[in-house]
Amino acid sequence: MLKRRLPALCLMWSLPVFAELNPQLLADNCLTCHQDHSASERDIPLLAGLPAQKIQQDLLDFKYGRKSATLMPRIAKGFSDDDLRLIADYLARD
Ligand code: HEC
Repeated sequence: MLKRRLPALCLMWSLPVFAELNPQLLADNCLTCHQDHSASERDIPLLAGLPAQKIQQDLLDFKYGRKSATLMPRIAKGFSDDDLRLIADYLARD
C-alpha cells in the first residue's frame, strides 16, 4: 500500500521546491542575449566572469535610471530588487 503511494508522496514533497523562486529560471532569460557567442559583435557585453556585486549594481542603476542604456532599463524594471540580487548571484556563480 505504501509502495503504491510513494510516487505521489514524492511529488507532494517536491512541489514546494518548484513553487520557490528559482534564480535559474529568471537568469536563463538574460543569457539568451548575454551568452550568445556572437553577442560581442552586437555590442552586448558578456557577463561571464563579472562579480555579482557589479552585476547587481548595474541592474539597480538601470532600474532606477542612474545608468542610461537602450534595453536594460526596461528589463531591470520588470524585477524586484530582491530578484535582481538573486539573478546577479546566480550569474556570477558560473
Ligand atoms: C534583449 C537582450 C538582452 C537581455 C534579454 C538582457 N540584456 Fe543585459 N544588456 C543588453 C544590452 C544591449 C546591454 C548594453 C546596455 C544597453 O544598451 O541596454 C546590456 C547590459 C547589461 C549589463 C551591463 C554590463 C556591463 O559590463 O556594462 C548587465 C550587468 C546586464 N546587461 C545584465 C542583464 C541581466 C541580469 C539580464 C536578465 C535579467 C539581462 N541583462 C538581459 C541586452 C540584454
